[in-house]
Amino acid sequence: MVLELLILLGAAVTLQADLLPDKKFVLLPPVNFTIKVTDLAQVFLRWEPNPDQEQREVNLEYRVKINAPEEDDYETRSTQSKCVTILHKGFSAKVQTIVRSEHSLLTSSWASAELQVPPGSPGTSIVNLSCTTNTVPNNHANLQPYQVSLQCTWLVGKDAPEDTQYFLYYRYGSRTEECQVYSKDALKRNVACWFPRTFINSKGHEWLVVHVNGSSKRAMIKPFDQLFALHAIDRVNPPMNLTAETEGNRLSIQWEKPVSAFPIHCFDYEVKINNTRKSYLQTEKMTTNAFVSIIDDISKYSIQVRAAVSSVCREAGLWSEWSQPIYVGNDEQKPLKEWFLIMLLATICFILLIFSLICKICHLWTKLFPPIPAPKSNIKDLFVTTNYEKTGSSETEIEVISYVEEPEFEILEDSVF
Ligand SMILES: *[C@@H]1O[C@H](CO)[C@@H](O)[C@H](O)[C@H]1NC(C)=O
Ligand SMILES: *[C@@H]1O[C@H](CO)[C@@H](O)[C@H](O)[C@H]1NC(C)=O
Ligand SMILES: *[C@@H]1O[C@H](CO)[C@@H](O)[C@H](O)[C@H]1NC(C)=O
Repeated sequence: MVLELLILLGAAVTLQADLLPDKKFVLLPPVNFTIKVTDLAQVFLRWEPNPDQEQREVNLEYRVKINAPEEDDYETRSTQSKCVTILHKGFSAKVQTIVRSEHSLLTSSWASAELQVPPGSPGTSIVNLSCTTNTVPNNHANLQPYQVSLQCTWLVGKDAPEDTQYFLYYRYGSRTEECQVYSKDALKRNVACWFPRTFINSKGHEWLVVHVNGSSKRAMIKPFDQLFALHAIDRVNPPMNLTAETEGNRLSIQWEKPVSAFPIHCFDYEVKINNTRKSYLQTEKMTTNAFVSIIDDISKYSIQVRAAVSSVCREAGLWSEWSQPIYVGNDEQKPLKEWFLIMLLATICFILLIFSLICKICHLWTKLFPPIPAPKSNIKDLFVTTNYEKTGSSETEIEVISYVEEPEFEILEDSVF
């Protein structure tokens, strides 16, 4: 048995060695290569082996090269191939016959085919198409527990006539649906579409295809295709039933997974704890549904959580919105009173400072520009002036000093200073 196998193997090797250097062995390209549109943004490539191909004991394979709209290159043993791609820019591809061995590769010439760019006036197709999906609970309980809604918006082409009307179709897998609920612009042209429920499987890996064509009496409207990866456009719901409780300065937070077809282990979460008094923010990433934190028990906290489907279950996507905030802790009067006292003290200090500054400035002023002296008539007058000075005027202060000359008033002079 083993011997037989070895002999067979040996024969095969000799055949290969015989075949490949043999310049007379010519590979011919496939025939009847056709490209057919089989669905929205989907083509079927088909070809036949060349009937004149000399048959030897070799495995014929094919290499397919897609040139437009995006370059791609792959090999297959089959004589047909399916391709999901946008088609509004046309499509072109070629195929050749190949024979591969360990050391070399024989190739034929190419057979080519193409799809024309669909007709339409330039600038009439929609622009800036954007779509999002969202999972909602299914009220028809006998069906799947969740359903996926789809929302798309776009802008009217800059050269689209006023009477243009656009129509949106989506395809997921083999299911295609036309939009039934449109929103319109001021000229009643459709610019957004809403599918409350679709055939989209939120856990699926297929492309979501969106096709928007249109009609007008004045121009031919160019169609537009776009492929969307579900993970990139899925608006994940925020986590549910967020609760928090405090025990001393221990804060425990819990929540439930969002409404989603993905099971519980498929989510990443981010918790945001905001100390509303100190406007201090703590954010934590985690994969569990609970979180414990140590807090300052005289503060009030707002807590929010958001979710994203983790890379364990699909490619990284977007974070959900934050859940509605919940509040814990107290915002007591005590800190407010403290704050009031501090403010009061600061205000008093400030007023005193300003006051002393004013005094200083006035002092300087009178020193620089002393008032013109006026002789005092009698002691009584002087007393009046002195008393006045004691209530705060520094001008009179100077006056008093300058003009008191009687020795009896030396004491008074001292007290002034
Ligand atoms: C190629 O197409 C022609 C015409 O459709 C047909 O007659 C012919 O049999 C096809 N060749 C092969 C190899 O299938
Ligand atoms: C539409 O898309 C283009 C290019 O992607 C961008 O430059 C433009 O700002 C977008 N317009 C609006 C209104 O979003
Ligand atoms: C738009 O595309 C759909 C789906 O391919 C097609 O059934 C419909 O006839 C097209 N409408 C126009 C106006 O081209």
